[in-house]
Amino acid sequence: MSIWKKKPLTQLLSEAAESEKGLKRTLTAWSLVALGIGAIIGAGLFVRTATAAAQNAGPSVAIGFIVAAIGCALAGLCYAELSSSIPISGSAYTYTYATMGEFLAWIIGWDLILEYAVGAATVGIAWSEYLNNLLVSVLHVQPIPYGLSHSPFQVSDLGEHGIINLPALFIVGVISLLLIKGTQESAFVNGLIVIVKVAIVVAIIIVGWGFINPANHEPYIPPATTYVDDAGVSHHFGGIMGILGAAGTVFFAFIGFDAVSTAAQETKNPKRDMPIGILGSLAICTLLYILFAHVLTGVATVEDFRTGGKEASVAFAINKYMIGYEWLGSFVTIAILAGFSSVILVMLLGQSRVFYAMGKDGLLPEFFSHLHTKFQTPYKANLIILLIVGLFAAFIPGDVVGDMTSIGTLFAFILVCIAVVVLRKKEPNMVREFKTPWVPLVPILGVAVCLAMIFGLGWLNWLRLIGWMVLGIIFYFGYSKKHSKLNNPS
Ligand code: ALA
Repeated sequence: MSIWKKKPLTQLLSEAAESEKGLKRTLTAWSLVALGIGAIIGAGLFVRTATAAAQNAGPSVAIGFIVAAIGCALAGLCYAELSSSIPISGSAYTYTYATMGEFLAWIIGWDLILEYAVGAATVGIAWSEYLNNLLVSVLHVQPIPYGLSHSPFQVSDLGEHGIINLPALFIVGVISLLLIKGTQESAFVNGLIVIVKVAIVVAIIIVGWGFINPANHEPYIPPATTYVDDAGVSHHFGGIMGILGAAGTVFFAFIGFDAVSTAAQETKNPKRDMPIGILGSLAICTLLYILFAHVLTGVATVEDFRTGGKEASVAFAINKYMIGYEWLGSFVTIAILAGFSSVILVMLLGQSRVFYAMGKDGLLPEFFSHLHTKFQTPYKANLIILLIVGLFAAFIPGDVVGDMTSIGTLFAFILVCIAVVVLRKKEPNMVREFKTPWVPLVPILGVAVCLAMIFGLGWLNWLRLIGWMVLGIIFYFGYSKKHSKLNNPS
């Protein structure tokens, strides 16, 4: 029994062919780009941008977006090679099982819980912020009390303590139940949400441009200092470290483009369309994000994002400064509540597919891969995911889960970059419809930029990642290694 045993590529591809029988190949390159944008634009842009400006970088959060985009593009080129040569669901977990063996596949599967489950919790918490904004600013009624819409680790400016974040719990509960029922977001609804999301981002950029106060952009890169947040955590603010910290935080806004790779089996021509879907959605979002960050930090001040505009920051900035455009603030609030829901759906779906694959491989208990007799969905996996995501959403602050998602995903990206290099050496003759250019330079640079962002996220997040991984390693040796189907053929 070796923990480095690899799942043979031939076995993977025949499993893909087997499970493919039930899936229809309907997606084109453009539907993949739409799927990508649907999964990408969400809490990262509408919540984390302001957090990064407040805690790390001020206006230079726009430069942080450029750094994050470079890291994503480099890793995206690697994702594209893997997904065009191993067109099977399960994303980075599956690629790693084929290239670097079971133990590292387990590590990445465990790590993907941070990306998908903890990421879904982060977006759920953002949904809760904008729900309260909807109640107060749009419907002009009472908000949900602070205690019932915040985690126990948060205290308001008025000294109220959080107890539980009920709206966040509510939205992840509703979407989990939808997934169990197997309500696939129809291409039409997804298309509609994508159009609305892109439209509000473009509208904010165009309208907001006229409200930029140049004084707010001075200096564009603040001098290096330290900022201590309400919870007493200190952050590097300004200078290079501020930009790297901001890049790590807003990296969250790009998460999701890799979810495109999970749809490989439903794509008409995956070898050609996957790279277009992954890199195309990334390119469009990058352009929008940089402009959006430039406008947002020009309209409102860093101090706003540390105080009154800490929550539902974009709606706050519009309502306070863009006089005459309050309707845009209301529209953004309503649209983004729908937009966040679609992001949560994609993340929970991604998580259930990874758990399903791990259950089938025996690395998680078999019931993770049980399908509901009527709905044909992995409902037991969905219920356990609901429990995990619900706990994070209800009891942990958005900043903490957001940064945990970023650091966990950055780690996954690093392994994907390494996988490309390993696979080129070990399987030189494998058919690769899309080839990452300049290997090993591109993967090495991908690793370097992702490591720089991990560095920027600071020691508290490193400790959280290490703690999470130690738990995972204990689980692997206590359970998974003994039950792995590959290591224990019956
Ligand atoms: N990129 C997604 C978001 O920002 C996860 O919500």
